[in-house]
Amino acid sequence: MSLPQDIRITDVGPRDGLQNEKSVVSVGDKVAFINMLSLSGVAEIEVSSFVSPTWVPQLGDADEVFTNIQRREGVVYSALVPNLKGLMRALEVKLDKIAIFAAASETFSRKNINATIDESIERYRMVVKEAKQSSLRVRGYISCAVACPYEGPIDPSRVRQVAQQLLDLGVDEIDLGDTIGVAVPTDIELLYDELEGLLDPSQTTLHLHNTRGTALASVYRAMELGVFSFDASCGGLGGCPYAPGAAGNLATEDLVYMCEQMDCQTGVDLEKLFAAGRHITAALGRSLTGRVFNADGEETRTGNS
Ligand code: HMG
Ligand code: MG
Repeated sequence: MSLPQDIRITDVGPRDGLQNEKSVVSVGDKVAFINMLSLSGVAEIEVSSFVSPTWVPQLGDADEVFTNIQRREGVVYSALVPNLKGLMRALEVKLDKIAIFAAASETFSRKNINATIDESIERYRMVVKEAKQSSLRVRGYISCAVACPYEGPIDPSRVRQVAQQLLDLGVDEIDLGDTIGVAVPTDIELLYDELEGLLDPSQTTLHLHNTRGTALASVYRAMELGVFSFDASCGGLGGCPYAPGAAGNLATEDLVYMCEQMDCQTGVDLEKLFAAGRHITAALGRSLTGRVFNADGEETRTGNS
């Protein structure tokens, strides 16, 4: 089976990676991290969230971070937006795309955004309309696309329902989130089987957390099905404050390494990515968790075989 030749990577580290961190990371460190990511060659960077600072204190500085980063031409800069108030804040800064975030689990939806799924869709209706009027692209996340930390396994038909609701709102893309990192390749197959006729795999982004070490296996299965857009987090940072047990996202460097070794282009320079990872983990006072970075030998690190 042929694999997509060009892989699109969104680094969600500055947002998903940092939102769960208890120790405050300074605006300067966040800006330097994002600037380094811009230089690494990732297609998109999820810079921050315009959510309530009471709910996610770490990202209360989204406005300041956006104002200070250096934009690199060709890189898409995006942020999470939960409501119209968040959109108004986002419109004050220069960004290319917003991401609204629904869930396939009622309990997670209430815990994460204080709304039922249907309430959240209604809330997002005006957000998407206004964003479109300002020529912003809109990503629609579906969290708990495989399982929920509170409800357990999620039936893929519920994901299809929410995907339909988001598409009806006019989102430009659907991002499927395995929020707590339970997915294995057969879950990915079931998910895309269920979406058949509504969404082609190539029209989706896959957002995997690597809690159980199965994210790369799931990526490979998704690539076989035609998915070429993936979220990952530099250094494997990540988690969701409203999803107990959710560990880091799939590490961007591990994703890049696997794709490049299979001759699927990512456009990402691993050494530049390592530099970004070193910077943010030093700011957090820990070491990089990504497997590739920690592998022995310069050969492995540079991807030469
Ligand atoms: P709420 O408390 O119901 O909001 O929270 P509210 O509308 O009742 O407002 C309460 C106060 O918050 C008001 O202030 C508002 O002005 C303020 P007060 O009058 O009391 O002084 N407020 C805001 N301030 C700044 N920016 C805003 C904003 N909105 C309200 N945008 C709300 C509802 C949706 C705001 C809240 O629940 C929230 O912010 N939730 C976000 C939680 C979050 O960010 N979770 C993590 C991201 S999701 C995730 O990680 C999953 C993902 O990675 C995919 C995957 O892994 O599957 C995407
Ligand atoms: Mg996530």
